[in-house]
Amino acid sequence: MSGARRPVILDCDPGTDDALALWLALASPEIDLRMVTVVGGNVGLERTVANAASVVGLSRAVVPVVPGAGRPLRGHFAGEVRVHGDDGLRGVTLPPGPPPVAAVAADAIRAMLHTMPPAGMTLVGIGPATNLALALATEPELAGKLREIVLMGGAWGEGNWTPAAEFNAASDPEALDILLALGVPLTLLTLELTSQALVRPERVAAMRGLGDGACLRAACDIMDAVLPSRRLGGKGHPLHDACAIAWLIAPELFETRLVSVQVDCGHGPARGRTHVDRWGRSGAAATVTLPDTLDTEAFFALLGRRLARLP
Ligand code: RIB
Ligand code: CA
Repeated sequence: MSGARRPVILDCDPGTDDALALWLALASPEIDLRMVTVVGGNVGLERTVANAASVVGLSRAVVPVVPGAGRPLRGHFAGEVRVHGDDGLRGVTLPPGPPPVAAVAADAIRAMLHTMPPAGMTLVGIGPATNLALALATEPELAGKLREIVLMGGAWGEGNWTPAAEFNAASDPEALDILLALGVPLTLLTLELTSQALVRPERVAAMRGLGDGACLRAACDIMDAVLPSRRLGGKGHPLHDACAIAWLIAPELFETRLVSVQVDCGHGPARGRTHVDRWGRSGAAATVTLPDTLDTEAFFALLGRRLARLP
């Protein structure tokens, strides 16, 4: 591994794919995971916080888990229990983790950014972007402390929450709009990218053979419990959030292009739609890095190797 470990704050809404992303981050020496902040989203905040604590606890890592927003900047979180189940982990029960930190995510993010050098921190958002937006809207000058913002969200084609919009973007479009306007290097992993990280039974079976640690077993149980995606023809389910971590630890698995992105904050049927200009037709400045393609087999091989390192 070349280079120093990369300081990261991971904001999540566990959520089955969030759990895999968390374990991948915790298993990867390239990442110095400083804090896990939690937002409502896939399921309610109380459940997403408990799930984040359990996932971190099972890895035996000592990383603070900080609760954040239980609702978006406007409106309310709708939840996605059809995919993640009422408990957020498709019925896979993990031992309770350590108690969350008695703080508020947006405040904790700001406090940690104040301790960082310029361009020192990477923010990874794999749920509705409410916590990240609240932190940076409160102190916009803290954007100078950021090396990169990496988000799983949006789509340039069909949505997975409405026909027009992807779940994270649709859950809090105003929050995404705030992050897009910061001028910080931003990488957006959309549904078109994550659909290439398709979990299939044979891929999980191969991972189970890599070890017998509790995290690997739980990760495989979760992946086996999620139903195939109708949107993707029932061939498997996309491991959305782990792609955001793979981008940080193995960027060579991706091909990218620079694009402009606008998010629809209206209240019509297109609310939360991300208008991703892949061909420069709008004339808007192309400042967002859009991973276009993923080396799928290498991604799952990396995921399996890393999960096998965990306790
Ligand atoms: O649309 C996929 C995203 O929404 C993922 O982050 C998933 O966990 C849900 O939050
Ligand atoms: Ca998520």
